[in-house]
Amino acid sequence: MGGAVSMVILLILLLNIAGICNGGVTSDYVRKTEASVDMPIDAFPPPSGYNAPEQVHITQGDHSGRSVIISWVTPLEQYPNLVKYWEAKSPIEHKFKAQSRPTIYKYYNYISGYIHHATINGLKYNTKYFYELGSGTGTRRFWFTTPPEVGPDVPYTFGIMGDLGQTYASNTTFEHYVSNQNGQAVLFVGDLSYADHYPFHDNVRWDTWGRFVEKSTAYQPWIWTAGNHELDYAPEIGEKIPFKPYMHRYHVPYRASHSTSPLWYSIKRASTYIIVLSSYSAYGIKLSSDFVIGLKFFPAEDKGPNNNNMLVQGKYTPQYEWLQNELPKVNRAETPWLIVLLHSPWYNSNGYHYMEGESMRVMFEPWFVDHKVDIVLAGHVHSYERSERVSNVQYNITNGLSSPVKNHSAPVYITIGDGGNIEGIANRFIEPQPSYSAYREASFGHAILDIKNRTHAHFTWHRNHDSEPVAADSLWMFNRYWNPQEENN
Ligand SMILES: [Fe+2]
Repeated sequence: MGGAVSMVILLILLLNIAGICNGGVTSDYVRKTEASVDMPIDAFPPPSGYNAPEQVHITQGDHSGRSVIISWVTPLEQYPNLVKYWEAKSPIEHKFKAQSRPTIYKYYNYISGYIHHATINGLKYNTKYFYELGSGTGTRRFWFTTPPEVGPDVPYTFGIMGDLGQTYASNTTFEHYVSNQNGQAVLFVGDLSYADHYPFHDNVRWDTWGRFVEKSTAYQPWIWTAGNHELDYAPEIGEKIPFKPYMHRYHVPYRASHSTSPLWYSIKRASTYIIVLSSYSAYGIKLSSDFVIGLKFFPAEDKGPNNNNMLVQGKYTPQYEWLQNELPKVNRAETPWLIVLLHSPWYNSNGYHYMEGESMRVMFEPWFVDHKVDIVLAGHVHSYERSERVSNVQYNITNGLSSPVKNHSAPVYITIGDGGNIEGIANRFIEPQPSYSAYREASFGHAILDIKNRTHAHFTWHRNHDSEPVAADSLWMFNRYWNPQEENN
C-alpha cells in the first residue's frame, strides 16, 4: 500500500516537473480584486511656505555619474532659480550654486508652474551631498549620494518600477520600494502619471504625480523611459506636440551619449551600462536593397525621383543610427552589465498589448544578441513576466523559422508594467504558456536588481500583497559577457 502511494506521489512530482520544463510557471497566486482608483487630488498637497519648490526629482546628469540634474517646480514665481549644494561632511558655509532657466508650458487650458532644471557638475563619486531649493519660508532641503566610480566589480542596487500612475495600488508599490533600504537608483520603464486618463489630459495630474513620488525622486535618481502615456498627443484639443508635458518636466542627459533626442540615451552607473530606448519614436528600417516612397516601389538600382537616393542605402532613423553606433561603444571590461530599458515588451504572453513590441524586436533583437545584452526591462503590460534567455533572430519571410529558441547570448526579458495604475491589472495570459515565458503573474509589484560583481546579480520581484522582503520571483543572473552560464531559479 505504502509503495503504491509512493509511486503515485512520484508520478505527480514527475508530471509537475515536466509541466514546468515545457512552459514555465504561471503563478497560481490569486490577487485580491481591487478597484483601480486614483488617490484624491489633494492626497499630496503642495508643501507649505511661499512659492515653495515642489515635485522635486533628480536624475543622472552626465554619462558616468559625476553630475546630477535637479528638477523642481515653483508655483508662483520663477525666482529664486538657484540650487545650493554642498558635501554633507563639509561645513555648511561651503555651498556651491547652480542656476536653472525656468520655463512654463501650456497644455489646452492648463498652464504649468515654473519648471526648473539645474545641472550640477564635478561631483565626487560615492559622496553624500545636501541641496537646498527656494527661499524664506519656502526653503526646502534634500540630499543624495553620488554613485561609486564606474568599474567592473562595483556593487550597485537598482529598484525597478513601471506604469506607476497614482492609484492606491500605485501607492502600495511605491511605498514598498521606498521601504527597501538598499535601492540606490530606480530604473523606470515608462508611463508615469496617467494624466492623459483625465478629460483634456488634465495636467494637474502631472503635478500631483510629481508630489506623490517626491519622497524618493528627490533623494535618488530615477532613470526615465518614455511610455505611451507620456505622448499626450491630442490634436482634437489642439495639442499636436508629442511628449510635451513629459519633456518639459523630465530632463535626461541625452547629449552626454551623443543622442539627438531625450527619448533615447545611455548612462554608465557603477558596473552597469544602461541604454534607454523609445518604443514610440521611429526606429527605422534599413532600405538596403529596395525602397518604397509612398506607395510607389523602386528597385534598388533605381535612384528614385530626381536621381535622389537619399532614401536608399545607409539612411536610417535617428534612433536606429544612434543605437547602431552606441552598442559597440560598451566596454564590458569597464561596465560588465548591459541593461536596456524600453516600454513596449518584446516577449509578452499576455493578451494585453500582445505583439505591440514586435516591429522593434525585429529591428533590434539581432544587435542585442550580438552584443550580449544581459537584461531588457519593459513595462506597458500591467502584470509581471520574466522570460527565458531566448532569441528569435533566424526568421526570414521564406524559411518559416519563427519560433523563439534558447540562446545563451540573449537577454532575459522582464515585463514589469505592474506599478498599479488606473487602468487595472492585465490578467489575460495566453494559454498554454509559451516555452519562452519562465514566470508570469497578474499582480502589481516592483523589483530589485542587486548587482554583486562582474559575474553575478540577484534579481527579485516583490508583489504588493506580500511584505516587501518577500520575493515572489527571484533569479541569480549570470553576466552574459563574463559568466554566460545557464541560470536556474
Ligand atoms: Fe504603456
